[in-house]
Amino acid sequence: MLEFRRNLPAYKEKNRLLTAISQNQVVIISGETGCGKTTQVPQFILESEITSVRGAVCSIICTQPRRISAMSVSERVASERGEKLGESVGYKVRLEGMKGRDTRLLFCTTGILLRRLLVDRNLKGVTHVIVDEVHERGMNEDFLLIVLKDLLSRRPELRLVLMSATLDAELFSSYFGGATVINIPGFTYPVRTHFLEDILDMTGYRLTPYNQIDDYGQEKMWKMSKQAPRKRKSQIASAVEDTLKAANFNEYSSQTRESLSCWNPDCIGFNLIEYVLCYICEKERPGAVLVFMTGWDDINSLNDKLQANRILGDPTRVLLLTCHGSMASSEQRLIFDEPESGVRKIVLATNIAETSITINDVVFVIDCGKAKETSYDALNNTSCLLPSWISTVSAQQRRGRAGRVQPGECYRLYPRCVYDAFAEYQLPEILRTPLQSLCLQIKSLRLGTIAGFLSRALQSPELLAVQNAIEYLKIIGALDHNEELTVLGQYLAMLPMEPKLGKMLILGAIFNCLEPVLTIVAGLSVRDPFLAPMDKKDLAEAAKSQFSHDYSDHLALVRAFEGWKDAERGLAGYEYCWKNFLSAPSMKVIDSLRKEFLSLLKDTGLVDCDTSICNAWGRDERFIRAVICYGLYPGISSIVQNGKSSSLKTMEDGQVFLYSNSVNARESEIPYPWLVFNEKMKVNSVFLKDSTAVSDSVLLLFGGSISQGEIDGHLKMMGGYLEFFMNPSVADMYQCIRRELDELIQNK
Ligand code: CDP
Ligand code: MG
Repeated sequence: MLEFRRNLPAYKEKNRLLTAISQNQVVIISGETGCGKTTQVPQFILESEITSVRGAVCSIICTQPRRISAMSVSERVASERGEKLGESVGYKVRLEGMKGRDTRLLFCTTGILLRRLLVDRNLKGVTHVIVDEVHERGMNEDFLLIVLKDLLSRRPELRLVLMSATLDAELFSSYFGGATVINIPGFTYPVRTHFLEDILDMTGYRLTPYNQIDDYGQEKMWKMSKQAPRKRKSQIASAVEDTLKAANFNEYSSQTRESLSCWNPDCIGFNLIEYVLCYICEKERPGAVLVFMTGWDDINSLNDKLQANRILGDPTRVLLLTCHGSMASSEQRLIFDEPESGVRKIVLATNIAETSITINDVVFVIDCGKAKETSYDALNNTSCLLPSWISTVSAQQRRGRAGRVQPGECYRLYPRCVYDAFAEYQLPEILRTPLQSLCLQIKSLRLGTIAGFLSRALQSPELLAVQNAIEYLKIIGALDHNEELTVLGQYLAMLPMEPKLGKMLILGAIFNCLEPVLTIVAGLSVRDPFLAPMDKKDLAEAAKSQFSHDYSDHLALVRAFEGWKDAERGLAGYEYCWKNFLSAPSMKVIDSLRKEFLSLLKDTGLVDCDTSICNAWGRDERFIRAVICYGLYPGISSIVQNGKSSSLKTMEDGQVFLYSNSVNARESEIPYPWLVFNEKMKVNSVFLKDSTAVSDSVLLLFGGSISQGEIDGHLKMMGGYLEFFMNPSVADMYQCIRRELDELIQNK
């Protein structure tokens, strides 16, 4: 191992790095992925501190954007030092950790360090903070940098090191007043790139466009068909070109990322991945294959398909593995191991394998070109998590993974002209996500006014986005008029999830109906577990409708999950999912998230540690409906009956529609006046996702917060009910109940 370490490019820069760190308060280190930044730099500091005159009085914190990398890296570093984890090297991630009295080097998630700052704003005793993977520009990392920048002046002896693979070094350096930048020169073998045009030629497939009409209007998609006589390369290349031209792609005009979205590789992606995999297994030299896919749900379904259908030939010759943020740590180790000779390792991965995890023996990379990305539109105040195109920098990173041990091959499942139109860098998360959780954190860390704090960010979000977030937090009762945290806000800040989900958990605990609420909140945190395959849409819808009798997607999920749980106990969980068009991996993730959320609630003190769960009213739908409404407000639309049909309206958007997979979309009449919804998305029209019908009284009692004088707003929305509630005695009674409820929630 010592030998291995000495051969890493970072090792050659050891002295330069240590000198820079001792002479400067802030140092920025960049270097190719795999050159040894994460595993070596913290160790260099640790070793030099141990041998220094002072002795090892250091305490080094190295943050990672993801739990899985914090865990795997700490384990690696401990073993490089010939120690057990928890001695001088440890880790801490949410709900898990391994650290001892003598731990001097701690790997943790960025979230953990932010939580520590909550109770220890000067990071007393910490000598070095290393923020890894800063190029990813995650929300937490950008946030942490503002906090640390403020801290540096209060703690002049504190050292800050930023590390990244590809780096907009100038931006970071000038943010820290011209900080020193050190680049670790790396070495990689050349990698040959194949674009879609080349791949199609190789597999003998042809692409033809066809129009598919779906819920959101017309969308152009592509179909693959076996091409009878194999055409010459140039002909195929021109067929692709024609196809692209037909869709308004023009190689020569610069395209925006938006206009690229109609090129939908998801629809052809799977087949292509399978073909390229088969091609490599049959024809190519030995070497591991790394496949970059969009998300873990895609990974799971491809994995199932490959395992079930023996697509890749003799199963004993193939080692098929998956790599994503929510996998178990026992699975992780397999990824790094070299397989027996004659066995080909294939890893299906999310963009987690782009920079933070290095698999050494990769020779082939298959890149689908997309990653899940949230986007936020401040003007319409809508956000969504959708697969979107990666940046050129990411595409280069992905390609580079193939050239670590020998020359490699990279198969890009998109045409060259699409690649040419990629943005250079991905937009930082802080500019493309809603800021509600961030604002709560700013307030709970007592960092001054929200707008003032955010104006000191590396790249500040739009003012409108900030205002929207503050407004939202006021409406839901987390902030008061002066933008200070309410009691509810303080609890929400302790729960690392969207405030609406936190609100549901809190009220679920207070109302003793926690079991179903845990399921709903966990369900909303993963992708829709109800599957709707294109070719079996009707069957899937019929399967989902068995779970719905009460106009609620959320309650349908609760029923589906309970059914799965029973089936799982009898070891029939998989069959149950298959029969009911449910995603088995999603069900498992929901199951583990429920446990995680429960222990978070225990941390807040809202749930007793010894009583297993507060669920006295868990079977009473009225309570669950109230909790859902409490969480999802102000996501609300009114149901307007016009004769036999009904339509939906929200205050901001006018007419809106339901996704076709909602149980409410199939009801001709909904005997309730309101729908609360989880999310809305704008695609030509506005569509609502996951909704539950609620009554007037539930909305009045659980929507918004009376302390904000919200009644007026409600009454306006209710129109016809206005007179009724204007009756002084009714209004009094209502105010009184509301106030008591509010006090109950704020004072629990
Ligand atoms: O951070 P950076 O990408 O620069 O590299 P690193 O994560 O420090 O990894 C340096 C080397 O250690 C790479 O060649 C990895 O493959 C290897 N490594 C490993 O074998 N097992 C791990 N769990 C982590 C890293
Ligand atoms: Mg690294």
